[in-house]
Amino acid sequence: MIITGYRAEHFRNLKHIELFPDSGVNVIFGENGQGKTNIIESIWMFTGCHSFRTHKAAELIEKGKREAKVSLSFTAHGMENDAVLSLQQKREFILNGAVKQSPRSFLGEFQSVVFSPTTLLIVQDAPSERRRFLDIAISMIRPAYSTHLLKYTKILANRNALLKQISIGAAQEEYLDAWDEQLARCGAHLTLYRMQYVEEAARIAVEIYREISGGKEELRLEYQQSSNSFSVDEYELTENLYIALQKNREGDIRRIQTSVGPHKDDLFIQVDGLSARSYASQGQQRSAALALKLAEAYMIKDVSGEYPVILLDDVMSELDNSRQNLLLEYLKNWQVFLTCCDTSHITRLHSFKTFHIENGTCVGD
Ligand SMILES: Nc1ncnc2c1ncn2[C@@H]1O[C@H](COP(=O)(O)OP(=O)(O)OP(=O)(O)O)[C@@H](O)[C@H]1O
Ligand SMILES: [Mg+2]
Repeated sequence: MIITGYRAEHFRNLKHIELFPDSGVNVIFGENGQGKTNIIESIWMFTGCHSFRTHKAAELIEKGKREAKVSLSFTAHGMENDAVLSLQQKREFILNGAVKQSPRSFLGEFQSVVFSPTTLLIVQDAPSERRRFLDIAISMIRPAYSTHLLKYTKILANRNALLKQISIGAAQEEYLDAWDEQLARCGAHLTLYRMQYVEEAARIAVEIYREISGGKEELRLEYQQSSNSFSVDEYELTENLYIALQKNREGDIRRIQTSVGPHKDDLFIQVDGLSARSYASQGQQRSAALALKLAEAYMIKDVSGEYPVILLDDVMSELDNSRQNLLLEYLKNWQVFLTCCDTSHITRLHSFKTFHIENGTCVGD
């Protein structure tokens, strides 16, 4: 997947900007607050359908304007595509002249992987951040997953609403049986997707991490179910989740929330046998996050047959020289957009194109 043209109008501080990227490494540089991340953010919106920084569309539109527009020309599977994202009260994607029925139906058309300082949160933050990572990554390669996830979220909301009714004596406990059964069935389905993804990602990420650490450290990834089930069989997973829901019912009614299920599961990341979140150094956490993201990129490539575009926001300055070299070596066949404040970090690159960003416009290269 190669971006051949990019244009933004009134997207945050990008009043009007047009770039014609290289198929290799593109370096977007400039001082703080000039619009570099805004470019990365707007490109990623074609992948995730929303921003990785905010859910409020209004924040994405230049202050005082009513509409923002981003256009992307890209090749995929040997075909030229023109995509337009229009942001007004609502988001609208137009692909090759045809308006997409909903933003979600654009998912999968343009694939990219973003790595930014906040990627570190996958390792450092609460389990919800790792679940979010899994949910987005799996949806990218198995679009049906997001439908199951949506269904699960609805069932969960209904169960929680019923818990509230029961807690105030407005409904009977037995009514929960039907929701528990549905939640267990749908939850087992999600769990299977996630376990398969983690198994495959681990195979790739462990290898990458070994190289990054010079063979000295070992990364381990494990999907942890809140129901304490270790099964990989769908029937057993359903059964175990159903039993766990029943077991926790009393507490769930008291707290008015569902305490087991995929919405409480975690991706356990270990370095040399210890929890990376609690024990690993900054550098080890960064390497683990990098290995996970590279695994994500490889898995997209394996499934789609296309190299996803790599977006590296403020990443180079955080890595030491050997890690920078290794990262760029890994990415030598990919189209990369990387942002930095000055180009001194990347002068060793053989082939790259630079874009100097100032006050939301490209002032030279
Ligand atoms: N809706 C908006 N309208 C106008 N300007 C905006 C809007 N949203 C954000 N900005 C401005 O965009 C500017 C650039 O932000 P961006 O995050 O892209 O900077 P950057 O070049 O990546 O800087 P840094 O090097 O610090 O990461 C900020 O100064 C911010 O005030
Ligand atoms: Mg930035």
